[in-house]
Amino acid sequence: MQEKTFFIKTFGCQMNIRDTEIMAQTLCESGYIESGSIEDASLVVLNTCSIRAKAEQKVFSLLGSLRKNKKNNPDMQICVAGCVAQQEGKNIIKRMPHVDLIIGTQHIYNLPQLLSRSSMSRTAINLADDYEIPRYVPTVLKPSSRRDSDTPPLSADFQYSRFVTIMQGCNNFCTYCVVPHTRGREVSRKVVDILDEIKVLVTSGVSEITLLGQNVNSYGRSNGVTEEHSPYSFARLLHDVAQIDGLKRLRFTTSNPKDLSDELIDCFSQIDILCPQFHLPVQSGSNAILKRMNRKYTVEDYLEKVNGLRKVCPHIALTTDIIVGFPGETDEDFQDTMSLLETVKYNGSFSFKYSDRPGTKAQQLDCKVPENVKSTRLQLFQKRQDEISLEKNRSYVGKTVKILIEKVADDTMAGRTVTNHIVHIDLKDQKHIINPGDYVDVAITFAGQHSLKGALLKSE
Ligand code: SAH
Ligand code: SF4
Ligand code: F3S
Repeated sequence: MQEKTFFIKTFGCQMNIRDTEIMAQTLCESGYIESGSIEDASLVVLNTCSIRAKAEQKVFSLLGSLRKNKKNNPDMQICVAGCVAQQEGKNIIKRMPHVDLIIGTQHIYNLPQLLSRSSMSRTAINLADDYEIPRYVPTVLKPSSRRDSDTPPLSADFQYSRFVTIMQGCNNFCTYCVVPHTRGREVSRKVVDILDEIKVLVTSGVSEITLLGQNVNSYGRSNGVTEEHSPYSFARLLHDVAQIDGLKRLRFTTSNPKDLSDELIDCFSQIDILCPQFHLPVQSGSNAILKRMNRKYTVEDYLEKVNGLRKVCPHIALTTDIIVGFPGETDEDFQDTMSLLETVKYNGSFSFKYSDRPGTKAQQLDCKVPENVKSTRLQLFQKRQDEISLEKNRSYVGKTVKILIEKVADDTMAGRTVTNHIVHIDLKDQKHIINPGDYVDVAITFAGQHSLKGALLKSE
């Protein structure tokens, strides 16, 4: 029998990266082998993102080019998973009839079964719009049922820091955002499942965990996380995860500022392994725009939370997301965003031009901002952010920091600090026995806009 091989191409956010790991795991468990290239694979899965129009276009252009591969190799199966699959459903097959399977964001655990159905009937199965509100809560393999393949076989990737999904979906309906449409309503996983999954990972050598959710702060709010522990907050989950023996660093993402509680702020002084970094997407510095985005906080509320965090944890590294050119954004609104940048002075940020998304309220709004205005605003914002990032990074020069090593080559190494800064180390002729996953102390010698350089001091 011919060997079954797969290749998964991942687009989008950390949740998609984690979903790819899960799909890879289920495929390995049902006899597939991971292929190093898209050309050699008998199954190609595109795990897609639809957050902005560009992300979606990338998927369709790759699907277009896969048509040729399929002509040369008619047995090849093509599967579209992720947020474009959920959003576009059967429309994908209309545009791309060579696609075999479309799998919604809630069905990833069923991939092998769906594939065998699709190969038998030779027709595409579309699960994306077979349900209304997804309620699928993933379960975790218990340590007792664990085989070696339970840690996903993405061998080339860094294995010591991993993502764990704690909730998915979103009830917030920010007016520009597709996520509530592609991921459904909020569903929190059971505490016990999360803790078990992390224990499995830590036992297999992982020392850093990032908890994932579209809005982690509302963890446990919308459905029964556990019968014994109700109500149960995200802060409480952090405390429980931090008890796991062997875990050295804990992070999380993402948080809507409206749900950032005092209880969570206090975690930064109470939990040793909680890393002093916070990604707190503000989106805009104008109250009028925030209102039209349906963010449910004002700039003043936001600044109060930032001050609260800095009070409890003065060296916390703050990052954010910004959208420029939301419908109706005036020059003045944009200046308010620039002023907020000056006030907060983020360590870094992700900034985007507003993109119209199907099914969102903002798509219906008038007063769309012209493309060239959006581009100019984006450039202005990014230029100033780069200067601030450099200024902030320079404050680390001369300091000693601990990094978790991610990459080791003959004469260089790279790792991350607790504040999530990347540090490159030039080893020259230095002798060392350091491997990915080790923690080492480095003295920071140089700061760039996006990373730091350091000299090796000692390893743990
Ligand atoms: N849950 C997070 C955001 C997840 S989406 C939160 O509430 O902050 C990641 C980022 O993509 C968003 O923070 C936003 O900045 C950006 N984004 C989302 N929809 C967008 C759109 N239609 N156009 C441009 N950027 C968008
Ligand atoms: Fe999208 Fe808003 Fe939900 Fe974030 S909180 S995922 S931006 S709807
Ligand atoms: Fe993209 Fe879906 Fe994540 S739209 S950002 S892959 S939740």
